[in-house]
Amino acid sequence: MAAARGALAWPSELSPDSTVVLRSGHAMPVLGLGTWRSDKAALKHAVTHALSAGYRHIDCAIMYANEDVVGEGLAEALAGGVVSRASLFVATKIMPTQMHPGLVRPALEASLKRLRLGYVDLVYLHWPLRFVAAPSAFPVPPAERLGYDAAAVAETWAQLEACVDAGLVRSLGVSNFTCAKVAALEAAARLPVSVNQLELHPALAQRRVVEWHAARGIVVAGYSPLGSPARPPAFRHGDAEPAPLAAPAVAELAARHGRTPAQVLLRWALQRGTAPLPKSVTPARLDENLGALARGWALSAEDMEQIDGLDEGYRFSRGEDKTVPGQHWSELWADDDALPAAAVAASDAAA
Ligand code: A2P
Repeated sequence: MAAARGALAWPSELSPDSTVVLRSGHAMPVLGLGTWRSDKAALKHAVTHALSAGYRHIDCAIMYANEDVVGEGLAEALAGGVVSRASLFVATKIMPTQMHPGLVRPALEASLKRLRLGYVDLVYLHWPLRFVAAPSAFPVPPAERLGYDAAAVAETWAQLEACVDAGLVRSLGVSNFTCAKVAALEAAARLPVSVNQLELHPALAQRRVVEWHAARGIVVAGYSPLGSPARPPAFRHGDAEPAPLAAPAVAELAARHGRTPAQVLLRWALQRGTAPLPKSVTPARLDENLGALARGWALSAEDMEQIDGLDEGYRFSRGEDKTVPGQHWSELWADDDALPAAAVAASDAAA
């Protein structure tokens, strides 16, 4: 595999235009706009507002079923000269139903059409798990879920590599992959894994997982960086769930720094070398969230530790709607949960 090796070169000084160079050699803005479950009626304006405010990274997915609206916003901003294509970073994700021979390029071409772009900057495999190509229903019934198959992942990746060769995408990534699944893919891949997008917030800090990727130069992008406060009932697991945005430790830091709780959570993510992807369709919140990257403030090492103390390994997005019959959702993440510090160090030495 021709991956660039070495530790992640994360920017030491953060500013609204901070980027990180991916293993592909292309730069990615370190904070992006998430679009999962974005209200379609508000999304176009959210995109144009975000781009005017200074966002340069939009995180999409075919599964979110709203790329057409993102595309309208992108087209308007590009036509109006608000942003140039070269300064923009747009990502999308291949669905588990599309992880079959011959399906990837047509899926990406259809996505590009909806996004009104000639290429995207990054394509992720949305999950390491496959579904049948034409499910009878969504959510996909258990009998039509095919689970994890390293050979199927590698075959899909090879189709993505061909899309890079064809100029349809510049960098490749994965999402919801454990370290072991990333390692298995890399052993079979020609082009490097540039990014792994994972659920990340103080209640699920995944410290060893983040370190494992950083040692290899793989960027970890974080979804639900605010703790996904408006997630739907299907993603709730009782009434006593952690709420990082409302945590007293975060409120205390926000007051001390004259910032908001959301800015503190995002700054923590950025200063630990991860790329948060906060979702919002609210203009004032879009501005607020970008303020995490403002110059002139930073969390101290003690502040960072105060937030580190909120980690309880709590997963909101468990993947129970993607498991095969008889499989418990925890099996999807078990390799990482079992990742001992010694294993991280040992595999760092080998990297
Ligand atoms: P909205 O889109 O209505 O503004 P996450 O990225 O962790 O999944 O969180 C996204 C959720 O958090 C959305 O419901 C979003 O609401 C809300 N949100 C986004 N930014 C902020 C903020 N700065 N303060 C409070 N809630 C926010």
